[in-house]
Amino acid sequence: MAVKGSFVYGVVFSIFLSPSVLHLSNSELIYSVPEELERGSVVGNIAADLGLEGKKLSARNARLNTEGNTVPFVEIDQKSGSLVVSEIVDREELCGSKLSCALKYELILEKPLEVHRITVQIQDINDNAPHFSADRIKLEIRESASKGTRFLLGEAHDADVGTNTVQKYSLENNDHFSLRVNTNTDGGKYSELVLEKELDREQQQELALLLTATDNGTPQRSGTVIIDITVLDANDNVPVFSQPIYKVSLPENCPSGTVVVTVSATDADEGVNGEVTYEFSRLPDKIARLFSLDKVSGEIKVTGQIDYEEESVYELRIQAKDGLGLASNVKVVVEITDMNDNAPTITVQSLSNSIQENTASGTEVGIINVRDKDERGNQEVHCIIPPNVPFELNPSIKNFYTIITKGPLDRELVENYNITITATDGGTPPLSSSKTIYFSISDVNDNPPVFQEQSYSTYVRENNKPGTSICSVKAQDPDFRQNGTVFYDIFPGEVNGVPISSYVSINGDTGVIHSVKSFDHEQFRSFRLQVLARDSGSPPLSSNVTVHIFITDENDNSPQILYPAPEDKSFMTEVVPKAVLSGSLVSKVIAVDADSGQNAWLSYQIVKSTDPGLFTIGVHSGEIRAQRDISESDSTKQNLIISVKDNGNPPLSTTCTVFLIISDDLADVPELKDMPYEQSNSNLTSYLIIALVSVTTLFTSFIILIFALRYCRRGKPRPIFDGAVAIPSGYFPPNYGELDGLGTLRSSCNYDTYLTTGSRTSDFKFVRSYNENTMLASHTLGRSPNDPVEGNELSSGVTEVSLEVGYVLSLK
Ligand SMILES: *[C@@H]1O[C@H](CO)[C@@H](O)[C@H](O)[C@H]1NC(C)=O
Ligand SMILES: *[C@@H]1O[C@H](CO)[C@@H](O)[C@H](O)[C@H]1NC(C)=O
Ligand SMILES: *[C@@H]1O[C@H](CO)[C@@H](O)[C@H](O)[C@H]1NC(C)=O
Repeated sequence: MAVKGSFVYGVVFSIFLSPSVLHLSNSELIYSVPEELERGSVVGNIAADLGLEGKKLSARNARLNTEGNTVPFVEIDQKSGSLVVSEIVDREELCGSKLSCALKYELILEKPLEVHRITVQIQDINDNAPHFSADRIKLEIRESASKGTRFLLGEAHDADVGTNTVQKYSLENNDHFSLRVNTNTDGGKYSELVLEKELDREQQQELALLLTATDNGTPQRSGTVIIDITVLDANDNVPVFSQPIYKVSLPENCPSGTVVVTVSATDADEGVNGEVTYEFSRLPDKIARLFSLDKVSGEIKVTGQIDYEEESVYELRIQAKDGLGLASNVKVVVEITDMNDNAPTITVQSLSNSIQENTASGTEVGIINVRDKDERGNQEVHCIIPPNVPFELNPSIKNFYTIITKGPLDRELVENYNITITATDGGTPPLSSSKTIYFSISDVNDNPPVFQEQSYSTYVRENNKPGTSICSVKAQDPDFRQNGTVFYDIFPGEVNGVPISSYVSINGDTGVIHSVKSFDHEQFRSFRLQVLARDSGSPPLSSNVTVHIFITDENDNSPQILYPAPEDKSFMTEVVPKAVLSGSLVSKVIAVDADSGQNAWLSYQIVKSTDPGLFTIGVHSGEIRAQRDISESDSTKQNLIISVKDNGNPPLSTTCTVFLIISDDLADVPELKDMPYEQSNSNLTSYLIIALVSVTTLFTSFIILIFALRYCRRGKPRPIFDGAVAIPSGYFPPNYGELDGLGTLRSSCNYDTYLTTGSRTSDFKFVRSYNENTMLASHTLGRSPNDPVEGNELSSGVTEVSLEVGYVLSLK
């Protein structure tokens, strides 16, 4: 047995359906193989026949579409690219008596879609022997039958076709009969007995003859039947059908009981010899279930489900027999007409379930196949998808459609699509079916993070605590997972030559910006930084935003006196002519404040003066003017202690002293000319004096001693103004309560002066003794340790007096 099938011919041609994407080719491969091949036998090498490499087949997801064959019978061996037998084929079971028996397949290749027709023709082998429908054929022949009379013997059946089916009949040698072989309209061969020598019932009442039917196959097969002949006395007629062949058409799905046709045969004989009965001869079981035949009336009725798609033509052979067993045959051809009883079926051949959102328009993402088992118009299928989706259905080869993308996809807008494909056939009424396919759109990092605001600005009070959060930025990225996970960073930059990272830092996950150090409004009032938001895609996308940081002022600088110049070691003394009139400008205090705004708005006030009525100071100008005309009786040495205060909350203040000499002649004040600035131990002296005084008031002096010691521990004693004019205590106002808070005098503090006399002898005049309020005062007049020391430094010299007052009062 030749195992390998032969490749008969192949037609290859290409169709370009859509110029852009599809290269669809359609060719037909036809193989011819004998039936009953072993599993695994090679039918043909499709890879070679299509001019493809064997391994390309699996890469292109080659597969067979069985076109309605319930069993595939052949399959593709992906390794070799061959078509091999997967199931033993019995031609007779598959195709019955049809001469040509072919299995049709579609070979589907993807990327690009190609569909090739494959036809496997199954050739008959002589695997069936002829056989007769019964073991014995009974004939009753009258002895009066004349020479040449023929008796129908019927047809032996052989399931094979062509030369493998019954080709000849032979009859065993006998004296009376010869055999005549005829050919049917459908090519079948049947035999008749021909009487060659009259029978004599008296001589021989019964005969048995062996009839052999043989086919022409290799090997040759045969079947036999015994013809039992009974010799009768009388003559007889054969039943004759009213038509040589009956042809009817029957719609499929007709109900059970529908009359197909009524056959009738008449017999010229009378009585029992003329009674004709009908029966099916040689009907396969499958068909026998579908039709019934009334033995007497010859009426054929439908008894089962007639399905055009299963069988479109039935041939029923009917035998009419008279009472004596003389019979004749007729054929009834029932043609089934198609009804639109099958909705189209949609099968998904391939589908990309996940489509990247940046997939180009026109990309093939799926292949579907629609089929309708019905005929002609009923088979014309029209397939649609909803218009509002970014997909398109492209008719391709025959019943195939490709699904291609149309227009842009955006996962951030639509994450998935359920697309219902509807297929409708052309029948009346049309039938339709639908199938929903699911596409999910997968993410591509196509959205950069976007900040919620165009730019950010924030206000931070100076002297902020390092590490506090000062503002936060937020950017959003609609992409999926890491493609949408945003991280923040600060662009490197400089503020006043210092890397920006030493001022602020950002939390990469939250976008919260922290200060790294304390800001100083006096150093810089604002700065800006660029914050970068970056997603974690690959490659990442980013955007940036500007953050403005404004540092708001706090009142952390006290006023600084520029004039009278504090750093000038010689004492500033203004000489005022005696003839000064009321309202004249005598001097001016000039001060500045490093803060800004209200915190730098200065006001001037005379807090102490030798003659309170004599001079005034402009509250905001700092101009010192005579309040009245100066008279001879006024003291020539005038001392003014001036407080300069800013408008902050709380306010800060500084004091200074202005010395005025009322004289027309500078020579009158020789002491001023070479006044040395002694770093004398005058404060030691003062403590001695304080100790002396404390002896007189025991309790008080003890406490003072303690405070004096404490003062010594505080650091280097400050020099006390020495040798200037003495200011009578009576000129001090009882209190000045406007000043408040840190570093200033409280109204409740009664203080006393211990200024030196003008004699430079460091003698202290005790104007009033310390009282207990002073000692217990809880307010520190000294600066808080945090405060810059410059204030003290600046106020050295002429401002010494006020500072000394402060020190004494701080001796709690
Ligand atoms: C599609 O169907 C699936 C379930 O089958 C559902 O989870 C999804 O939300 C549907 N999508 C749309 C866009 O309707
Ligand atoms: C992120 O985007 C890239 C392409 O830019 C893609 O390959 C990846 O699958 C995406 N990640 C997720 C989690 O979707
Ligand atoms: C910040 O973003 C703008 C566009 O928004 C871009 O032109 C600029 O180059 C970016 N700056 C940096 C430092 O990346």
